[in-house]
Amino acid sequence: MARGLSRGKRPDRRPVHAGQAEPRASPATTATGALQVDLSDEPEARSAQLRGLIDHHSHLYSVLDRPEISDFDFDRLFRALQDLEAEHPGLVTADSPTQRVGGAPVDSFSKVKHRRPMLSLGNAFNEEEIRAWHRRVVNGVGEKVEYVTELKIDGLAMSFSYEAGDFKIGATRGDGVTGEDVTSNVRTIRSVPLRLKPGVGGVPGFIEVRGEVYMPSGSFAQVNQALEEAGKQTYANPRNTAAGSLRQLDPRITAERGLSTFIYAMDPAGTAMNQSEVLAQVTELGFRVNPHYEVHQDIEGVLDYLERWRDKRHQLDYGTDGVVIKVNDHAQQQELGFVSREPRWAIAYKYPPEQAETLLKDIMVNTGRTGAVTPFAVLEPVFVAGSTLSLATLHNEDEVARKDVRVGDTVIVHKAGDVIPEVIGPVLAKRPPRAEPWKMPTECPRCGTTLVRKEGEVVTRCPNVNCPSRTLEAAFHFVSRGALNIDGLGYQTIRQMLDRGVIKTPADIFRLSREQALELEG
Ligand code: IVH
Repeated sequence: MARGLSRGKRPDRRPVHAGQAEPRASPATTATGALQVDLSDEPEARSAQLRGLIDHHSHLYSVLDRPEISDFDFDRLFRALQDLEAEHPGLVTADSPTQRVGGAPVDSFSKVKHRRPMLSLGNAFNEEEIRAWHRRVVNGVGEKVEYVTELKIDGLAMSFSYEAGDFKIGATRGDGVTGEDVTSNVRTIRSVPLRLKPGVGGVPGFIEVRGEVYMPSGSFAQVNQALEEAGKQTYANPRNTAAGSLRQLDPRITAERGLSTFIYAMDPAGTAMNQSEVLAQVTELGFRVNPHYEVHQDIEGVLDYLERWRDKRHQLDYGTDGVVIKVNDHAQQQELGFVSREPRWAIAYKYPPEQAETLLKDIMVNTGRTGAVTPFAVLEPVFVAGSTLSLATLHNEDEVARKDVRVGDTVIVHKAGDVIPEVIGPVLAKRPPRAEPWKMPTECPRCGTTLVRKEGEVVTRCPNVNCPSRTLEAAFHFVSRGALNIDGLGYQTIRQMLDRGVIKTPADIFRLSREQALELEG
C-alpha cells in the first residue's frame, strides 16, 4: 500500500518526529518510537480497540493537523482492522474507519429539505461598507458589540446531522431550502467524524453542524494532473473540483479526492452563548474548525484583521475569498434577525480578485510522462496573489483557441483557486496588429515524432514511448512526492542523469554507483 493511502491524499503532510509520540497518546500506544500495541486476542474486543486507535490517530491527523504516529504505523493499524473484519464480517460497524473508503455507487441523489434554510450573506467590498454595516449593527442592538472574524473559505456550504452521536445525513446547500443527500460521499471525508466525541454536555441527542467542504490546493493540483494525463477535462478551480467530487455517484472516487472541511455553525447551539463558544464546542465534538478566527472588541480590530490577512491568506493550502464578520453574542444576533434571506448580524467582506496584466512572450508546449502535449504561456514575470508568475498552463489546444490568446498579446493572468497560474484572456485593445492565432505544432518539440490527437479527446499526444521528454517526466514523477518521494532528487538532477546517460529508465536510479552520483552537479 502506498504511504498514507488509507488516510487519503494530503500533500502538505508534515513529518512526524519520534519525540512527538509522547505518553498522552491513547493508552495502548507506547512512546518507544515505533508503535507498539497490546491488543486483545478476542476478535470483538480487538476490533473495538483497533477502531478506537485508528479514530484517535485519524482525528489527530485529519482534524487537528497534529499526527503522533507515522503514516506507516497508521497504515499497519488500518490493515490489521481490515484483515480482522474480512475474517469476521459480523464485526464491521457502520462507524468503522474502514467504511470510509467508499460504499456502493448510487443512481442519483435524493433531495433533503433543510430543517432551517441555509442562508447567504450580504457582501462588503471596502472599509466604508463595513463601517456602514457596523453602524447598523450598533443602532440595532443599542449597546457595545463584539465581533468574530473567520476566513471565508472558498468551498461549498454543507450540512451534517447526527443522531445520538452517529453521523446520519450530509446534504449540500442546494437552493438553500432543499439540498441533495450526498451522505455516502461525505462519509469518505476524513475530517467528518462518523461518531461524535462527548462534548461539554456529553453526546447530543440530535445536532446539525454546518460548514464548508473544500479541496486543499495540493489535492486540486493532483486531481487535475491526473485528469489531464488521462486526457479528460480538468476542473477550473478547487471549488468546482470540490463540487464535482461531492456529486460523484461512486463514493470511491470522492474518497480519493482529498476533500476536507471547516465547521462554523451548530444547531441547536446548546449551552453556547456566542459564536466563539460554538467554535470551541464543535471542536470538542470532533469537528475541524479553522484555527484563524479571532474575537474583536471593536470594528477597528476587525479592519486590522482584514488588512493582516490580505496577503497572508495566499500562503494557506486552501482558497479564501474574504472574511466573514459575525456579531459574537447570540442574544444580539437574535435581536438583529434577518432581512430577506440574509442575517443582519453577519457580513462577508470580499477581497478584490487578484489579477494582473502582462505580456505573453511565447506559447510553448511540453510533452509529459504519458505523452500528453500541453501548451503553456511564457510570460513577462508579474507578481500575483503572493508570488511571481512567469509560466502559466494553457491546458490544451481547444483552450488556447477558446481564449484566443496570441503571442504578443497583453493578457490577464490570475491563479485559479489561488494555486494554478492561468491566463484568463487577452486584452484585445492592446493586441498588436499582426498577432496570429496560435497553432499546435505537428511534431513533438523534443523528439520530432508526428503528434496525434484522437477523435473525441482534447489532448494531443506524442506517440513515441521513447521520447526523451516523456522519460524525463516519468523519471521525475517516479521520485516525486506522490510516488517514491526521494528527497533531494529534483528535476535538474534527473535531467543531468538522463543527459549524461547514467540512467536510461527510472529504475536505473537504484543502480547508480556512488561515483556516478558524486559526479553530478548539486
Ligand atoms: S456563515 C447565515 N462562515 O459563505 C449564513 N459562511 O455567502 C451563515 N462561507 O454559503 C454563513 N466560510 O458557503 C459562514 N466562516 C464562514 C464561511 C462561510 C465560507 C460561505 C458559505 C456561505 C457563504 C455566504
